[in-house]
Amino acid sequence: MIGAPMYNLSIPTPLKARIDRVAVAGKTFRYAATGPEGLLQGKKAFIASARGGVYSAGSPAAALEHQESYLIGLLAFLGVIDVTVVRAEGLALGAQAKDAAISQALAVESPEQAQLRTRFDPFLLSRDAERRALIDAESVSQLINQFDQRLRACAGVTVDSTAHLITSAWIDERSGITGALASVRGWFVDPDRFSNAWIVNVTELVTKLDHAAKPSC
Ligand SMILES: Cc1cc2nc3c(=O)[nH]c(=O)nc-3n(C[C@H](O)[C@H](O)[C@H](O)COP(=O)(O)O)c2cc1C
Repeated sequence: MIGAPMYNLSIPTPLKARIDRVAVAGKTFRYAATGPEGLLQGKKAFIASARGGVYSAGSPAAALEHQESYLIGLLAFLGVIDVTVVRAEGLALGAQAKDAAISQALAVESPEQAQLRTRFDPFLLSRDAERRALIDAESVSQLINQFDQRLRACAGVTVDSTAHLITSAWIDERSGITGALASVRGWFVDPDRFSNAWIVNVTELVTKLDHAAKPSC
């Protein structure tokens, strides 16, 4: 993750100094018989780019852009070709332009996020309903009881409901809410509440989700 404002058409001196410490032959690249070879293959990079003016492709100043292009070129030299750039530019062009640039940058999703979102949107929608129910419930224990009864009463629905909840908790966990998955999974693998077969299913579901998240899928 590289935070990179544009300074005088390029990157700030401290960032360049850091790069000079990292881009070292034998550490992050090497000289092979056919030429230099990056040693960081298979890694991902994110560049958070900020600049006062506008330099994106097609703009009049595009040819002066030596910030993102330099970083992308350097990363490729080190073997990192999976690079996502999140850009806020035109930040010095007035308050309105600045707000618009920041909103646009915040709305950018990584390709992986976009893929997960498409796959799990339906699950997230059903989780929304659960959250609304949580807000409406008079107490958490009442909600848990209702939830428990609902799951037990509707044999045909239980597996789906569980899958929805676990999947959305899994997404929460991957979005940085540490412990979300463990707490939901803990509830569904409680032997006092559920059969062994059920617990095996839940465990398998989490394994499948972990597997589905691998980029090769
Ligand atoms: C020393 C310096 C040089 C800058 N050079 C440029 C430049 O060449 N082009 C540009 O569009 N903005 C330039 N800026 C503006 C910054 O890119 C912009 O303010 C950016 O938002 C800085 O990020 P920060 O707010 O996270 O520090 C420069 C700012 C400073 C302090």
